[in-house]
Amino acid sequence: MSLTFVDCLNNDMVRQFMCATQLTAINFKNISNEFSFILTMLSHPILQKYPLKTQYLTRFLKTIINQMENDGNELCDELYLKYVELIQKESNEGPFYKHYILKNNVDNEIVESIITIQESTSIVSHGTTGLCTWQAGVALSIWCLKHKDKLKDKFIVELGCGTGLSGISVCTNCEPREYWFTDCHSTVLKSLQYNIQINETYKTFNCKYKTVQLSWDDIEDFKVFKENKPDLVLAADVTFDKTMFEPLCTSLKYFLNNNTTEIILFCTLRNVETYKQFLETLVKYNLHFTEDILPNNYSIILQQDCPIHFITVK
Ligand SMILES: C[S@@+](CC[C@H](N)C(=O)[O-])C[C@H]1O[C@@H](n2cnc3c(N)ncnc32)[C@H](O)[C@@H]1O
Repeated sequence: MSLTFVDCLNNDMVRQFMCATQLTAINFKNISNEFSFILTMLSHPILQKYPLKTQYLTRFLKTIINQMENDGNELCDELYLKYVELIQKESNEGPFYKHYILKNNVDNEIVESIITIQESTSIVSHGTTGLCTWQAGVALSIWCLKHKDKLKDKFIVELGCGTGLSGISVCTNCEPREYWFTDCHSTVLKSLQYNIQINETYKTFNCKYKTVQLSWDDIEDFKVFKENKPDLVLAADVTFDKTMFEPLCTSLKYFLNNNTTEIILFCTLRNVETYKQFLETLVKYNLHFTEDILPNNYSIILQQDCPIHFITVK
């Protein structure tokens, strides 16, 4: 039976593989059917043009090969050949990409497009955390797909947008009126612009959008928000560093001054003390909020080893 591209996109392991989910978070049991999906994807033009990190590919294939051997399954030559080809390429320096196949899980709708993001393979590079996509950023992207109605026709500003995954998904799937990708770091903005460019070649952005250098330390300089008031301000994984809390809360306060803006923050709870301190800073700034926790089964592509909280500030 030949597999279609859509069959592949609907397969959980393919969706994890394409965005290089940590191997420990993937269920490699019962893979006798799964490996054919992976082989199909490996020869797909998107992976030829925008490769995953070679080391990830080799480890992934090695795990499949080991598992199939352990299960006593017959191995196909194609899988071995691919593995050998890849280990010979291991010195490849990049750039590397991840491909996010987002699914809203509400009505099992799968967004039949892939969002391709060039990512750094380290959490911090060029002095910033913004060159790779963080877990709360992935969660925000999926949340937006589940809440398209809330975003439709809205003017949305994203703070600390990093690689741009959430914004690219919103612009291509959720029909906002306008979307501003903002970040303080010039290398992050350059990488974001490149990511937008990649995705624009095969997807339609259904709204006006801008990429804007905006530092929370200088929010008062952005007089433009006084006339052009955002309906929604979004941010993901911007609450891990205590030194950011005061400028971030100053910015949130600034946006709330007009009484019409709603703010939604997605925070990965890695350190309880740090998170508590952030909530205390919100209180100190007289910012009223509600908080909730994302369910564990929110999405197969999320490595939810730490809970993700979402905070609504009004
Ligand atoms: C951990 S990353 C999260 C990126 C993205 N939101 C995600 O979830 O993948 C934090 C982002 O906040 C940005 N950032 C840090 N301090 C900032 C500041 N003072 N003003 C604006 N952006 C800032 C960084 O450049 C980085 O892109």
